Amino acid sequence: MKGLVLSGGKGTRLRPITYTSAKQLVPVANKPVLFRVIEAIRDAGITDIGIVIGDTGDEIRAAVGNGRRWGVQITYIPQETPAGLAHAVKISRDFLGDERFVMFLGDNCIQGGISPLIEQFGRSDHNAQIVLKQVSDPRQFGVAELDDDGRVIRLVEKPREPRSDLALVGIYLFDHRIFEAVNSIRPSARGELEITDAIQWLVGAGYRVSPYIHEGWWIDTGKKDDLLEANRLVLEELPAAVQGYVDRDSQLIGKVIVEPGAEVINSTIRGPAIIGEKTRILNAYVGPFTSIYHDCLIEESEIEHSIVLEHSSIRGLPHRLEDSLIGRNVEVSRSPFKPKAYRLMLGDNSTVGVL
Ligand code: TTP
Repeated sequence: MKGLVLSGGKGTRLRPITYTSAKQLVPVANKPVLFRVIEAIRDAGITDIGIVIGDTGDEIRAAVGNGRRWGVQITYIPQETPAGLAHAVKISRDFLGDERFVMFLGDNCIQGGISPLIEQFGRSDHNAQIVLKQVSDPRQFGVAELDDDGRVIRLVEKPREPRSDLALVGIYLFDHRIFEAVNSIRPSARGELEITDAIQWLVGAGYRVSPYIHEGWWIDTGKKDDLLEANRLVLEELPAAVQGYVDRDSQLIGKVIVEPGAEVINSTIRGPAIIGEKTRILNAYVGPFTSIYHDCLIEESEIEHSIVLEHSSIRGLPHRLEDSLIGRNVEVSRSPFKPKAYRLMLGDNSTVGVL
């Protein structure tokens, strides 16, 4: 079996972060989501992995390389325009050949890996298997309807009146029949070749599409609040580990990870939280569900339930920062200048909540 990871796309829902970088490289618990995807595929025994890339392809190539670090072999598949998930499958035909494959969206995070799923599909003669998850509000997802025998009979993208509560998780298994489907369907109203249409085509053509109900959590990290939620869930699963320096005036409470070269001085960290390499926490409070990436500074400030990307600093804030996603090379500080005022330099599509 081969692996196909989709890492192109537009990433409009995560602007302004995605103006300058790939959303799949945003870290969750200090590890890019895409790395977690590669590890999940590798752990299921698949080492031949294609990654579909778009405008941010250079950055992805630089971060992932040839895959040797994970013991896998990576092939990059450039997609000229983000013309849909089924389009991404279509352009990957040469890489995939006639082998069965797992397709994994590069911005999705799943609990417990995909080994059982890969084993089940490997043993079956089904043409496709789709991963489904029971959700409370299916209207924002692709939704699957099953018949009494448990076969997939219908897929509907973001239905107003869902006929089931089974949402499509961003992981799919296919055999070569999927190429017949992606070559037969037409672009949807939004101009994309939809994977739901391709799967529906398989069902209509009489091919066997089976469901796999995923019991653990699953998060599509396409938006800020979902990223924070994925960060919370992953942090809860990681064991504490202190490899950096923590001085005697500091307190670590609960599960805290301090990565090598990090320094915690006169501060309190209440886990689950992770402090990245060469980051300094000085006279500060870092609260639960916070990930501070490498080379950051948190000084005379309080932060909780947030993600801070590399090389950013947060200094002297009079109020606690919560529920925030802070990009790279960002400076947030208390302004010493009079008159007292907010002084901001924000990129397009930024969001700020002030007191
Ligand atoms: P989406 O999150 O559905 O799309 P998007 O990345 O364009 O984001 P937004 O809706 O915020 O504008 O894509 C899921 C994954 O698939 C993501 O990792 C990007 C990738 N993708 C491709 O590689 N090629 C494509 O043509 C599309 C649409 C997505």
